[in-house]
Parts: sequence; C-alpha cells; structure tokens
Amino acid sequence: MKIAIIGTGYVGLVTGVCLSEIGHEVTCIDINPEKIEQLKKGISPIYEPGLEELMEKNREAGRLDFTTNYIIGLKDKEAVYIAVGTPQSEDGAADLTYVFNAARSIGQNITRDVVVVTKSTVPIGTNAKVRQLVMANLQDNVCAEVVSNPEFLREGSAIEDSFNGDRIVIGSDHKGAGDIVAEINEPFGIPILRTSLHSAEMIKYAANAFLATKISFINEIANLSERTNANIEEVARGIGMDTRIGNKFLNAGIGYGGSCFPKDTQALVKISEERDYDFHLLKSVISVNENQKTALVRKAKERFGTLHGKKIALLGLAFKPETDDMREAASISVARELIEEGAEVIGYDPIATENAKKVLPEEVQYVDQIEEAIKQAEVVFILTEWKEIVEKTLIFSNLFMEKPIVFDGRNCYSNEDLANLEIEYISMGRDQVTNVQERRVAAAI
Ligand code: UDX
Ligand code: UDX
Repeated sequence: MKIAIIGTGYVGLVTGVCLSEIGHEVTCIDINPEKIEQLKKGISPIYEPGLEELMEKNREAGRLDFTTNYIIGLKDKEAVYIAVGTPQSEDGAADLTYVFNAARSIGQNITRDVVVVTKSTVPIGTNAKVRQLVMANLQDNVCAEVVSNPEFLREGSAIEDSFNGDRIVIGSDHKGAGDIVAEINEPFGIPILRTSLHSAEMIKYAANAFLATKISFINEIANLSERTNANIEEVARGIGMDTRIGNKFLNAGIGYGGSCFPKDTQALVKISEERDYDFHLLKSVISVNENQKTALVRKAKERFGTLHGKKIALLGLAFKPETDDMREAASISVARELIEEGAEVIGYDPIATENAKKVLPEEVQYVDQIEEAIKQAEVVFILTEWKEIVEKTLIFSNLFMEKPIVFDGRNCYSNEDLANLEIEYISMGRDQVTNVQERRVAAAI
C-alpha cells in the first residue's frame, strides 16, 4: 500500500521504516529540513538499535523515501499516519498543536480518499477533531476517515517491538477504514484488537498509566523493604511468579522517565479533571515517581552529612539504556540537586552526552570514557543500566578509587557480584553492603 508518515521522530521514523520492511511504499514527511537531509543520506537523527540498517535496506529497495514537501509526500497515498509529538503543555494537558497542524496539511494536500491513522498519543475525542479538520481543509472532492492506532514501542527496542509486539490496537468507528489499517498491519503477524475510536485512545493512556503504577508500586515496596530488611529483588521475584501479577516492570529504581510515562500520566490526570473525576491513584503514582528520582541524593546526604565539594560521577544520563533520549531522565533532577548541594558533578553516557549538554545544568563536566569519570570521582552514582556501565563500574571503581563508594539507582549487582570486592555499595530496596571496613580490619590483623 502507498503510505505517508508525518513526523520522523522516535515513533514516526520507526513506524515508517518497519512498514516499508513489510512491503509497503512509504514516504516520511517532516517539517525539519535538516532531519530530512540527514535521512536522505541514510543517517538516522536518533539512536535506535537496528534502525539505520533497516532504513538503508528499504531505501535501496525503493520502498522508503523522505521529504519536507506535503504536496509530494501526500500525493496518491491511501493511508496517512500522524506521528508528530504531543508534548506536555504547561497545565499538564497534551499539546495538540502539531497534530492539528498535520490534520490541516493532510486536508489541503490529499489527492484521493485516505485513511488518517493517528499514532501520536492523543486525549479521548481528538481523532474526531482530526477528521473534522481534515474534511474542513479539503481542496479536492475526496474523503477521509480516521483510525486510532496507538504505538506501544519502547525506545531502545522499538524495532524489535514493532515485529514482536503483544497486540496491535485498531480503533475506528468506520469499519472500512479499520479494515484497511488491519490489512496494512497483517504482515506483522501480531494479534489485532479492533475497538471503537474512544476505546483505542483510552487504551494507550490506560496502558502507560498502569505500567507507571506498577513501577511506582514496586518503588514504594522497595522503600519499605529498606526499612524492614527485606530484599526488593527477592520480593519482586516472589510476587512476579504469580501470573496474575506478572514478572515484568517490577524493577525498583530511581523512577520512570522518558517521552511517554511522565507526560501521559499527567495528561490522563488532566483528562480526568476535565470530566470532574479525581484520579487519586494516578496522582499518587506521579508524586511517588517525583520523589523517587532523587532518592540517591538523599541517601548520599545521609551517608556523608554534606555533599559540598564532593566529586560525584553520574554514570548513565539517558532516561534508559540503548537510547540517546534525555526527556524526563532522572539524571536531570539528580544533577540539579547535586549542584545545589555544592557537589562537583562529572557526567558520562555512552551515547547521550550531546543531548545531555542541552538539558543538564551547565556546571556538569563531561568525560568520554567511563574510566575517566570513575578516576576523577570520590563517589559514583549509577543512573542508567547501560551494558557497559554494568560491566565496568565495579572493576574500575575497585581499580581507580581510593575508597570505592557506589550508589546504584538501578540495582545492577547482586551480593555475589560484590563478594570479593572492597566496596561500599548502596542500592535500592536492599541492605547496604560495606565490605571495606571488614577487609581493611582483616588486613591489619
Ligand atoms: C511520539 C508520539 O507522536 C507521541 O504522541 C507519543 O506519546 C510519543 O512518541 P516522538 O516520536 O517521540 O512522539 O516525537 P518527536 O521525537 O518529538 O518527533 C516528532 C517529529 O514530528 C519531529 O521530527 C518533528 O520535526 C515532526 N513534526 C512536528 C512535523 O513533521 N510536523 C509538525 O507539524 C510537528
Ligand atoms: C514506554 C512504554 O513501555 C511503551 O509501550 C510506550 O508506547 C512508550 O513508553 P519507553 O518510555 O520507551 O516505553 O521505555 P520503558 O522501557 O517503558 O521504560 C520507561 C521508564 O520506566 C524508564 O525510565 C525505565 O527506566 C523505567 N522502568 C521500566 C523502571 O523503572 N522499572 C521497570 O521495571 C521498567
């Protein structure tokens, strides 16, 4: 099928590339000329494992191209996807400016009947407005129907998720339009759930709100485990083996970040308020998460009394591993608090440093190698569980630090990993491990 995608961000680009991989002819449109120039040269503007290779393959096969021009991009297309951002506005609601701009451009430029497929996360009722805007701007005697087809892609594994997702949700109040989107997606071989427009819009928010709830819940149990000498890893395993609970998304840590959970939970609270409904639970999920982001700073303050003048290395700045995305990353809150406390902050990330420089306080110093960060530090904070960071932190802190002290916000190690090391190790929801004194005393005897 001939498909256009509007917006080549994390979601739009992955969607376009994967639809071309299953055989569709895809044109990706973006208003940002620099991005399109890069894409035409085969360079991905974002870091996403496997994306560039798949993009190249399908460009060479003639199934994938890029343009800033709506007239060219929308000509003869049977389906047009909207995948522009829906950032959080000041009052917490989703900002729909880009979605509505895309809808107007679709109306002005389509040359045949189309299905407009909304990938962007939008409040319940938005797709009906999208359709009105498309229809109000038509230039030709053509028609458009709308389908909500929310994305469930995780950054860092978005390609894999596209081909192995649990379900594809297709919400439409027009059967024919829903059928076309089902046909487009059939080659993925993933179960398809057909729903009404409003249900599909709600499914996206409900899914993200539920996952965020799971994370805040396990983080509260972790905080309580610290105060009761329980071990959160064991607790999570024990509850996760109950299939009614499930073992995924039970990793305690320094909270959720990224482009979706923070803004979608806020937006759902806003949607509730607009309907005079007080979503108590979700508001608590959000406040637990805010508090959790700076848990390591509190632990360090308790340990040292003051952080003034302490050299602290932040290992991992992106909101999760395998991405260069800094949106709502815990490192932002952590770096700010540490600077306020008068600490010297050294930042290291394998991929996200350039993006980090745009959002972290200017006082942060950056290094290119993990060993540099650890050599310069008196204290190490692990904020993102990149493979390299998990593999190297213990070895290097033991090698290069006079008195290794690691605060681990992602519970990267078990007691066995620490057994033969001289280290002070403080993690989340587990007892502190202090091997230093015992070994030093033992050596003195
Ligand atoms: C997506 C979804 O669209 C959002 O609703 C979901 O909740 C998270 O994922 P994302 O892909 O992360 O957003 O957005 P971003 O990386 O900001 O990319 C949006 C792209 O759309 C940018 O390349 C921007 O240049 C482009 N854009 C924006 C347009 O082409 N036209 C516009 O009018 C506005
Ligand atoms: C999320 C959703 O998973 C995806 O379905 C949706 O469409 C987009 O938003 P993403 O934000 O890319 O994906 O990453 P995800 O793996 O869900 O992680 C989000 C945040 O939660 C990260 O900061 C991660 O560190 C945190 N997290 C995740 C935990 O703290 N504990 C967990 O057990 C899982």
